[in-house]
Amino acid sequence: PSSIRLAVIPGDGIGVEVTAEALKVLQAALPADVKVEGTEYDLGARRYHATGETLPDEVLGELKGYDAILLGAIGDPSVPSGVLERGLLLKLRFAFDHHVNLRPSRLYPGVEGPLKAAGEIDFVVVREGTEGPYTGNGGTIRQGTEHEVATEVSLNTAYGVERVVRDAFARAQARPRKKLTLVHKTNVLVFAGSLWSRVFHAVAAEFPEVATDYLHVDAATIFLATQPERFDVIVTDNLFGDILTDLAAAVTGGIGLAASGNLDVTGTFPSMFEPVHGSAPDIAGQGKADPTAAILSAALLLDHLGRTKALPGLSEAARRIEAAVETDLAERAADPTPRTTSEIGDALAAKAAG
Ligand code: IPM
Ligand code: MN
Repeated sequence: PSSIRLAVIPGDGIGVEVTAEALKVLQAALPADVKVEGTEYDLGARRYHATGETLPDEVLGELKGYDAILLGAIGDPSVPSGVLERGLLLKLRFAFDHHVNLRPSRLYPGVEGPLKAAGEIDFVVVREGTEGPYTGNGGTIRQGTEHEVATEVSLNTAYGVERVVRDAFARAQARPRKKLTLVHKTNVLVFAGSLWSRVFHAVAAEFPEVATDYLHVDAATIFLATQPERFDVIVTDNLFGDILTDLAAAVTGGIGLAASGNLDVTGTFPSMFEPVHGSAPDIAGQGKADPTAAILSAALLLDHLGRTKALPGLSEAARRIEAAVETDLAERAADPTPRTTSEIGDALAAKAAG
């Protein structure tokens, strides 16, 4: 029997609860001859307070050896803002070259979104994950004085833009509607905008079946709220993608449902899967968190490993989880009695069983 070696980082707050359910459902969905070997890593606020560490080098080295990483959520009000985000989450994304940040958005039947007359919403944002203004390429001088100057330089390389644009075209090509929208701000961000458009048009020539479109990011937010059905695949830079995917989650029923994958599509490093939501310390430990986003992230994990490790049955297991979520969300609409985190996990595990 084959096995999947998984590093599990439950993290902080509700991350712990939702990760347990994601593992439960993942295990249930797998074909009988595929086993999961999960190893838990204690990273996040607790470790930071105990040792001052966010992601020690030896842990990073160990993580490199896994097939994939499943992450819950990190962050706690007791830790200064940014410390765990940069020292753990972004460090992992950069160290493992997670250049494709994949964030699907679907308005499932039965889920009430805030939009009045949205048609079918089913799109995926391919957010660049290792460049843009996230690289820490900046600084400040004369800090704290009235002459302070702060810069945060957005880094865009031809290599980095091309690989994410190419990935987005391939994903668009594989979907029924075959449409790809580039989102940027080329009217103001002249240099990066020019690079993104030139690369986009050059790669488009290799994908003649894919219909292409361009929107400035501000206009894209309008269309996401007024005509979300016009989107199929969106490709965009790291920061625009961060903002657009929170909006995308909001219009599809909230961040309790939004899943993501941080992919190294070459398979050199382990990809990392996490719900888009945070650690929600206000409801932590109460069994109130919706584990669906974490569970859908586990489905993305199986789908990714099915493609990159050529293990049989994983893509089917991923489809079973998605189908289970779809059925369960429709059932929730019919019977809105609140369920605990583990009740939702149990229901999904039963439905997704392989
Ligand atoms: C996300 C988060 C992170 C990001 C933060 C926590 C650094 O908002 O995954 O979208 O900006 O990428
Ligand atoms: Mn975000």
